[in-house]
Amino acid sequence: MADQDAQSPVGIEPPALPSIRWDEPPEGPVVVLLDQTRLPAEEVGLVCADVPALVRAIQTLAVRGAPLLGIAGAYGVALAAVRGHDVEEAAGLLERARPTAVNLGYGVRRAAAAYWMALDKGADPQRAAAVALAEAKALHREDAEASRRMARYGLALLDELLPGGGHQLLTHCNSGALVSGGEGTAFAVALRAHRAGRLRRLWVDETRPLLQGARLTAYEAARNGMAYSLLTDNAAGSLFAAGEVDAVLIGADRIAADGSVANKVGSYPLAVLAKYHHVPFIVVAPTTTVDLETADGASIIVEQRPGREVTELTSPQAGPGGEDAGGLLVAPLGAQAYNPAFDITPPELITAIVTEEGAVSPVTGVGLAELCARSSQI
Ligand code: MRU
Repeated sequence: MADQDAQSPVGIEPPALPSIRWDEPPEGPVVVLLDQTRLPAEEVGLVCADVPALVRAIQTLAVRGAPLLGIAGAYGVALAAVRGHDVEEAAGLLERARPTAVNLGYGVRRAAAAYWMALDKGADPQRAAAVALAEAKALHREDAEASRRMARYGLALLDELLPGGGHQLLTHCNSGALVSGGEGTAFAVALRAHRAGRLRRLWVDETRPLLQGARLTAYEAARNGMAYSLLTDNAAGSLFAAGEVDAVLIGADRIAADGSVANKVGSYPLAVLAKYHHVPFIVVAPTTTVDLETADGASIIVEQRPGREVTELTSPQAGPGGEDAGGLLVAPLGAQAYNPAFDITPPELITAIVTEEGAVSPVTGVGLAELCARSSQI
């Protein structure tokens, strides 16, 4: 592994801006996002004063990642309510903004239900809007707490599976503070390992085509002073073959009732590689990502994104909110492309699913349902 030590960790700095926050300047309430299309070059806030602006931010991936989409959806409903807009229409727009991450609909429905219930109980619209906002803030806090608990359970599991040491962990896409009210899901486990002195190296898949690994996970790893190396997605196979991966840690966008996991495209090939090389493949996600109403992987809707994300190298700094300024062509003009945003990993390839309620291993529908039942009792 010739130059794996070439990148020395830099100082410990959390992102300068929170991934999402509610603000109430004199012009009226807004949702402020850390614009992820501009990272790592610039840390810029993106101010959403209405739901269409927030929907655009979701679709351009200025805000992204399952748990954060849930929080954004809930704040979006509150924004519509506080501004006196049509809450039902806003909820519909938000829920349909992206199809795969179940948390988006969860957050939207949770804030909307709080709003409607308050109205039913006789609150005026202003009071009901305050109730919706309180619900969004509660979801935000709960996600931070879930993040802490997943990190604890995740590291305990790693230590059990890999006794004696400095773990070399491979991750895909981005699952840190940028996707969460706290420090994230899979990344939070690696971060906890780092703080405990048990992370030897975090291998970061670049994550084609939108480079969430290179732009976002490497940014978070660097800011936290973790030893990390970036690799092209294609290089993972040779890394496993060289015996340099002790475990794979990924997040999830939706987990079906049978334990099938939808996550960023490229996760499934890693699971196949992990199985072949006898390496644990661990999914870390809050129970809000488990969708017991979707029976299996085949029933999960996988978002298809524009082919131009594959045929062009688009600049993440294209413009505020990620509007596309046109990219560098890397394929013949007019080339067709296959660009699913996610793939599905079946439960038999997954060593464990870690949630804030503990881990399920082996992954079974019954085990998952038990964890979800535990979380709804709180
Ligand atoms: O298309 P994205 O960037 O929203 O996809 C995000 C992922 O696939 C993450 O891995 C997933 O949301 C889990 S992070 C908690």
